[in-house]
Amino acid sequence: MCFIALWDRAPLIEPTYVVASDGVRAMMESALTARDRVGVQDFVLLENHTSEAAFIENLRKRFKENLIYTYIGSVLVSVNPYKDLEIYTKNHMERYRGVNFYEVSPHLYAVSDNSYRSMRTERKDQCILISGESGAGKTEASKKILQYYAVTCPASEHVQTIKDRLLQSNPVLEAFGNAKTLRNDNSSRFGKYMDIQFDFKGAPVGGHIINYLLEKSRVVHQNHGERNFHIFYQLIEGGEEDLLRRLGLERNPQQYQYLVKSISCCRKYPGNCPKVSSINDRSDWKVVRKALTVIGFSEDEVEELLNIIASVLHLGNVQYGGEDSGNACITSDTQIKYLARLMSPLNLEQASSARDALSKAVYGRTFTWLVNKINASLAYTDDSYKNWSVIGLLDIYGFEVFQNNSFEQFCINYCNEKLQQLFIELTLKSEQEEYEAEGITWEPVQYFNNKIICDLVEEKFKGIISILDEECLRPGDASDITFLEKLEDTVGGHPHFVTHKLADGKTRKVMGRDEFRLLHYAGEVNYNVNGFLDKNNDLLFRNLKEVMCMSENKILNQCFDREELTDKKRPDTAATQFKASLAKLMEILMSKEPSYIRCIKPNDSKQAGRFDEVLIRHQVKYLGLMENLRVRRAGFAYRRRYEVFLQRYKSLCPDTWPNWRGKLADGVATLVKHLGYKPEEYKLGRSKIFIRFPKTLFATEDALETRKHSLGESPQHVLLSLPTIGIQAWWRGILARRRAQRRRQAADTIRRFIKGFIYRHQERCPENEYFLDYVRYSFLMKLRRNLPKNVLDKSWPTPPAALTEASEHLRKMCMQNMVWTYCKRISPEWKHQMEQKMIASEIFKDKKDNYPQSVPKLFVSTRLNGEEINPKVLQALGTEKMKYAVPVTKYDRKGYKARPRQLLLTANCAIIVEEAKLKQRIDYKALKGVSVSSLSDGLFVLHVPSDDNKQKGDVVLQSDHVIETLTKVAICADKINNININQGSITFTVGQGKEGIIDFTPGSELLVAKAKNGHLSVTAPRLNSR
Ligand SMILES: Nc1ncnc2c1ncn2[C@@H]1O[C@H](COP(=O)(O)OP(=O)(O)OP(=O)(O)O)[C@@H](O)[C@H]1O
Ligand SMILES: [Mg+2]
Repeated sequence: MCFIALWDRAPLIEPTYVVASDGVRAMMESALTARDRVGVQDFVLLENHTSEAAFIENLRKRFKENLIYTYIGSVLVSVNPYKDLEIYTKNHMERYRGVNFYEVSPHLYAVSDNSYRSMRTERKDQCILISGESGAGKTEASKKILQYYAVTCPASEHVQTIKDRLLQSNPVLEAFGNAKTLRNDNSSRFGKYMDIQFDFKGAPVGGHIINYLLEKSRVVHQNHGERNFHIFYQLIEGGEEDLLRRLGLERNPQQYQYLVKSISCCRKYPGNCPKVSSINDRSDWKVVRKALTVIGFSEDEVEELLNIIASVLHLGNVQYGGEDSGNACITSDTQIKYLARLMSPLNLEQASSARDALSKAVYGRTFTWLVNKINASLAYTDDSYKNWSVIGLLDIYGFEVFQNNSFEQFCINYCNEKLQQLFIELTLKSEQEEYEAEGITWEPVQYFNNKIICDLVEEKFKGIISILDEECLRPGDASDITFLEKLEDTVGGHPHFVTHKLADGKTRKVMGRDEFRLLHYAGEVNYNVNGFLDKNNDLLFRNLKEVMCMSENKILNQCFDREELTDKKRPDTAATQFKASLAKLMEILMSKEPSYIRCIKPNDSKQAGRFDEVLIRHQVKYLGLMENLRVRRAGFAYRRRYEVFLQRYKSLCPDTWPNWRGKLADGVATLVKHLGYKPEEYKLGRSKIFIRFPKTLFATEDALETRKHSLGESPQHVLLSLPTIGIQAWWRGILARRRAQRRRQAADTIRRFIKGFIYRHQERCPENEYFLDYVRYSFLMKLRRNLPKNVLDKSWPTPPAALTEASEHLRKMCMQNMVWTYCKRISPEWKHQMEQKMIASEIFKDKKDNYPQSVPKLFVSTRLNGEEINPKVLQALGTEKMKYAVPVTKYDRKGYKARPRQLLLTANCAIIVEEAKLKQRIDYKALKGVSVSSLSDGLFVLHVPSDDNKQKGDVVLQSDHVIETLTKVAICADKINNININQGSITFTVGQGKEGIIDFTPGSELLVAKAKNGHLSVTAPRLNSR
């Protein structure tokens, strides 16, 4: 909220500044100006702002001149005039509409308008908190604010209905929830918080009411000089003959016990006081009856509602007499026979209190039903637009101190402590914190933080409410007195709590033994504990509830839910419910920008023109007004964010007009320098400018006013004054249409999809076309996201039936593509390696035990380099190029002696070399084949033709790289198909037709030796089970 301080603007307003065409306004302003010379319009301007006497004197001066409103900064102080002042006319409303807070004299319309504008421009929810004691004018203020919005806000047909309903909710709620008390002829006996919801055009479009703690006890009993709720008298006085007959009522309030319980209160009507001069029940009835219709009650609903009201009156007339047994029996001649049965086991007193409990419960629940019903009629029905803004109005009971204070006052005063806490939190504390946050040096103002009292009442386990609940719930003989004792034990030492027992002699004299005293922020209050437990329990006999559940009255049927009977959980106590609802209220208020109206009652006799100083001083104290003023004066009167300040006043300085391009803070500094602000007049914070005195701002505002006139004709001005509203509406219209279209499309899609799903197994047809296409599309999209990452990745999403074939094609293409891409990327060396590996795989895969171990090892181009081969050998090779060389072990053909040799492969032959000698040369053409075992050994036999004399027979060799060696042999000799892998044994020729045999057996380790049978025996470990 903008913290704009208000001060005596009068001498600064020149009628010439007022829009010339608006003659009425000019006249009014000058008239007000004259009157406002009396006192100061803002207490901030008081010479001696710390003096309570000066404060009250200012109030008195203004009150005498019928100036009932005065500000403390942005807080409005209002004194009840107890007479009609001509300050709430339509002209007055117009005068405050859209005008800056400080341009006009204080009024609740200024507060209303300021909240409204803040809501619209800053799009922040607002709330207006109206406080003050009973009769101070809270409800009147809240009604006037509502009227202001109803008159000044934009309207349309729908909005008009809502406006009417908002306004008409008041007489209905007042009829059922207000009553004449000693302090106020129209005292609200419930707390009320009302949200008014506004759409983007600023038109009121809905509302919502939350009610707090109705004083139900009033239904069955009223203090001397007070009345029951208005509706009872209105119905009896104003109800049509027919209606009364149907309800079985007589047109005489004195017939009804619940209306005459406050006997001997009124001299004019000895015996009872149903009539009050300021109240006209008959005409009020007409208003209420009409309001019910406007709100949307059907004739039947009205009848049912009134039926309940009549029933309560009848119930009050049920009288009991004692039976011989001591039990109650109904003696009155009403026909409510069932009551006799219901209450028969009770004694007289119990029966009466059960009857009263029923009346209270019925009335209380009906009231809640009524609020819900009104809420339903105020609810904004356009679901598409949830983006409304809200102004909340809180009209809740003020601080109450009576001769005898009970549970109700305890709750009410607790509520006021909470509100005071909120006030502290939101204004006093936040004011100081703001200075700190902005880096402005400021002396902190001491104020009393009433949190300690809130804690005393509400703290878990230790607070008064917890102790009360404990007494209510514990088994055994709990009573109001044991509750008091428990309090003494638990919170006896608290500085804000006293009882007769704990008090000093002086206090004892003014305290009863059954009382406890709370030292509230507003003053001391003695609470009598009698009735605390019962009121907190708020129980209704189960059988009474059962009967209510069976009622044919539709409203009662909704009020008494059957589930309640079966629900084993005990309902929360009244105090706990109230505590929870207050916590919720605090949350609601905390989330909004608050404005305050502090109402003061000038005298106890409801008289116009009487200013009772003692009474007023007390209220000034407990409303915390002096403290509030102290804080305002200690700091700065006005503060604004740089951008807002610059935006408003930039036209006053050539450097900042039309636009400032640099940092905001620099812009503001330039602007105020140009305006000639003196250093003591302002401070620049981190994000805001703070102006100490109102007059500085006035001068700036005046300058702006003059500047506006000179800018009046400029194109910028024309642009600025374009109806932004229209543009906004147009743009929002477009957005809304787009949204609606999108929603339509979405609905169509969903519909088509569902239909398609139903027809999905049928041939393609218009019904399933969309769905099938969608399924295909989503499969392809899924496939696209989940394609195999490499050739070894064999995953592939399952296709829908219609795409099985296509999916298979795609899978192949994908694989080919991956292979192709892979091949394209590999180097010639790697390709060669792969080719060799492929050949090795063809020959050995799944056939020889040590093949798998060879796979990850690269084949090398040779195992022996130039230096490792004897130069003579190289010389002997001549031009023949060596392709591969590997050290091998040769086994003699006869003795199988192992000898180290080298095996060289050239383009044409394999050569076995011993040191410098070429021992044996085997032309590939002559190589018949190669034999090797299936085990993990490295032995192999090169078979040569036995008739070749040049050869000395087959060669038995062993290589540590047998897979590699034999692959090279197979490639060089082109003998891929001639590598034989043998199980068990290999037979080879030794020369001259003789044969040798190598036996292979699996074993634990590699062993090569000549066996007894003359065979070469090879034991090789089994590495893989094939
Ligand atoms: N601005 C006003 N102008 C004229 N009369 C007023 C004004 N405000 C209040 N009154 C008078 O004072 C009476 C009490 O005011 P109101 O009902 O608003 O008090 P309240 O603060 O709501 O009290 P309670 O806490 O008992 O509900 C009104 O019925 C009306 O007669
Ligand atoms: Mg009221």
